[in-house]
Amino acid sequence: MARATAPVRDWSQDFDVLDPGYIEDPFRIWDDLRESCPIAHTERRGGAWMLTRYADVVAAAHDVERFSSLEVGVINNGAQREPEEDPAAQYGLPPISADPPLHTWTRRIILPWFSHKRVAGYEAMTRDLCRSHIDGFIDAGQADAAVDYAQQIPVRVIASILGVPESLSDTFTGWVRDMLEFADDPERNLRGQEGIGSYLIAEIERRKVDPGDDLISELLHTSHEGAPLPEGLVLGMAALVMIAGIDTTWSSIGSSLWHLATHPDDAARLVAEPELMPSAVEELLRAYSPVTMARVVTTDTKFRGCPMHEGDKLLMNFPAANRDPEVFERAEEVVLDRRINRHVAFGSGIHRCAGSNLARMELTVALEEWLRRIPTFRPAEGAELAWAGGQVRGPRILPVVFP
Ligand code: HEM
Repeated sequence: MARATAPVRDWSQDFDVLDPGYIEDPFRIWDDLRESCPIAHTERRGGAWMLTRYADVVAAAHDVERFSSLEVGVINNGAQREPEEDPAAQYGLPPISADPPLHTWTRRIILPWFSHKRVAGYEAMTRDLCRSHIDGFIDAGQADAAVDYAQQIPVRVIASILGVPESLSDTFTGWVRDMLEFADDPERNLRGQEGIGSYLIAEIERRKVDPGDDLISELLHTSHEGAPLPEGLVLGMAALVMIAGIDTTWSSIGSSLWHLATHPDDAARLVAEPELMPSAVEELLRAYSPVTMARVVTTDTKFRGCPMHEGDKLLMNFPAANRDPEVFERAEEVVLDRRINRHVAFGSGIHRCAGSNLARMELTVALEEWLRRIPTFRPAEGAELAWAGGQVRGPRILPVVFP
């Protein structure tokens, strides 16, 4: 839960992406901003600009000269570790936190791990995971669709790609939550950074003598321009895969289940017409996009007439862009068979999500397996829901019943 700040009175001049009301229901605020002030500003949390129109978000994402990825965190908390305590600190988390040329070649190294072919190889395991988790709660007639299901799947797939034990899934999830969901709490944020950092350093050491068939081992034995990758870079890239691969997809699965629980007609339609699943997955990604990213302005400039200064933070609100009525008809509705859907849930331009094939597969399999066993379900009456927001939006507590 984000720390409370003063209530927001003027979203155009004083927005707060961690405002509890905004986290739970940001849609009307985005609609208002797109109309009245498409480049909003705030002095809160270190200050930032925020784009909500599709055309602006896409233009900024492609403008890598003026908008650098060296600072992609939506929340400033000052909890940055120094290179002497964390060898990854000097490299950040490439490719996501890098500009060209470092971005270009680090991205090229990890992309094959998330190709269609590789991802097809992870599908059977993902299906087994979904089934065994459903086995665990189906007889009870109720479950927390976020905690007992959505949260459990992506972390295990990522653990297998990194070659780290599935039994530590809760620990990995805790660290990633500390880093993203609790980014406004410097102590927790640092705990997450330290947890992931020291765990992966030990895993790297182990693989120097005993390499396996996993991403960390491959990074350790990859070279660039004739030299092995510096260890800090291996660490940063492995950490990125863990951070980017867990919270995001878990949030997407959870939001999609929330939608189906609260829109029984859509759930019934997907059960009756399973061939709609590919377009439904794209539509759920569009309508409930989890990820907002930041950029840092590299030079004093004007963007759409708005004066920005070197060092300013710019939030690229992909979720708001995906609800822009200029681009999407019936933007506020979930249309399971939407035909044209050029959503930017995975970003746009050179940093477009490297794990999108994996995310799509996991979301598809998680929904297919759930609907096969639990075709009708609804939110538990009177139960409290909890959403996380900021960098990644999704339900964290989602009690449902299927008596
Ligand atoms: C529904 C799930 C997901 C969503 C919505 C999502 C969204 C995004 C977005 C918006 C970006 C662009 C970042 C930017 O422009 O700064 C991105 C980048 C990235 N994502 Fe994902 N992601 C998801 C799942 C995954 C998964 C499963 C992985 C696997 C490890 C992954 C790995 C990455 C990586 C490595 C990048 C950096 C690419 C680059 O900078 O070139 N993502 N993601």
